[in-house]
Amino acid sequence: MKKGNLLIKNAAELVTCSGFKAKAGQEMSDLHIINNGAVVVEEGIIKAVGPTDDILSKYNEDNYKVIDAAGKAVLPGFIDSHTHFVFGGYRAEEFSWRLRGDSYMEIMERGGGIVNSVKSTKGATKEELFTAGRKRLDSMLSFGVTTVEGKSGYGLDYETELKQLEVMDDIDKVHPVDVVKTFLGAHAIPKEYKGREDEFIDLMINKVMPVVSQRGLAEFCDVFCEKNVFSVEQSRRLLLKAKEMGMKLKLHADEIVQLGGAELAAELGAISADHLLQASDKGIKDMAKKGVVATLLPITAFSLKEDYARGRYMIDQGCAVALATDLNPGSCFSNSIPLMIALSTIYMNLSPEEAVTAITINGAAAVGRAGEIGSIDVGKKGDFAILEFPSYKFMPYHMGVNTVEKVVKGGEIVWEREDKLIIKN
Ligand code: NIG
Ligand code: FE
Repeated sequence: MKKGNLLIKNAAELVTCSGFKAKAGQEMSDLHIINNGAVVVEEGIIKAVGPTDDILSKYNEDNYKVIDAAGKAVLPGFIDSHTHFVFGGYRAEEFSWRLRGDSYMEIMERGGGIVNSVKSTKGATKEELFTAGRKRLDSMLSFGVTTVEGKSGYGLDYETELKQLEVMDDIDKVHPVDVVKTFLGAHAIPKEYKGREDEFIDLMINKVMPVVSQRGLAEFCDVFCEKNVFSVEQSRRLLLKAKEMGMKLKLHADEIVQLGGAELAAELGAISADHLLQASDKGIKDMAKKGVVATLLPITAFSLKEDYARGRYMIDQGCAVALATDLNPGSCFSNSIPLMIALSTIYMNLSPEEAVTAITINGAAAVGRAGEIGSIDVGKKGDFAILEFPSYKFMPYHMGVNTVEKVVKGGEIVWEREDKLIIKN
């Protein structure tokens, strides 16, 4: 039997999320479910999809590893399209300050926050970053995530930005989860550049970005466009250069203050604008019109005790919404897909169907891979999350609990839940 040859049969729901591009507005509600469905994967790529009877009349089970998914829902592997999973050190102390009432920006302005993680990331060896990053990907995999976007941005200098991207590359080579790399050199202003933000942008444009681009170390360029971080003008200047150098664009936009990040994303034709807690009506309209994916990060809003992004409104305005965890050591130290689903459905008023679309095909679109992953369609990668329950509806319903039982990557089972009960009952 060839590697990556798999046949899944009898799935109570085969939630195909069928499509090859981002789904906007009402399209997000149609999951294209096949009841009692089956899917055939050959050498890692989906070969056939349909009702189990049809598939079994055409394909011989002897040629495949077979999973009987009776009583289970099978979904495309999830895409966590916004994370900062490679970093050194932790900021648990800052979290308790925030619980006491200090704001994220106050902590940042007095020298904590991102630059605190920059210090620890500079001080970490590549091996240390590799080991910690790999472990975090293991945990993501256990929630059904098969592709992750990861950002640099805890270096803010040539060596450490490159080090972070190289570590992500190394992890990608050995880990079943695929990693999409984003250069986020403009994530914060290092102390020595305070008041000279434009010079810092010049440094990124002239020294770091050309090497990142020539060595193919990042597919995307991102920027923290925020009051007291990088202005709309500075962000525009950086992103236009990144575009010239062949990178696709993302923005941390309108997170704390309404600055016009959503409008800028639309103006520049960014693939996604992320956070958007404060996005204006016009920014949302512009994004819908230009097909910029609105990537919402509800665990960050929860963690910062901020109001959630207006997910319901965005979808009603015709936006394509993606959901991601934003795993990072500061604003959101969580990679919990179940928590993210709970918050998006209960507080942002996304329907279960919209939430599923947001972590599958729209997540894929947010990392520029809607043609290869994010749905169960012929020609795509054989990446699946198999639930313990018969319907995707159990994901929001079983609040905060991991409903994933098996994860398949390229037609191979790469994670399986193991219930190890020590007590006898
Ligand atoms: O997406 N907002 C900026 N960047 C990250 C936070 C990074 C950090 O606090 O370390 C975010 O929330
Ligand atoms: Fe982020």
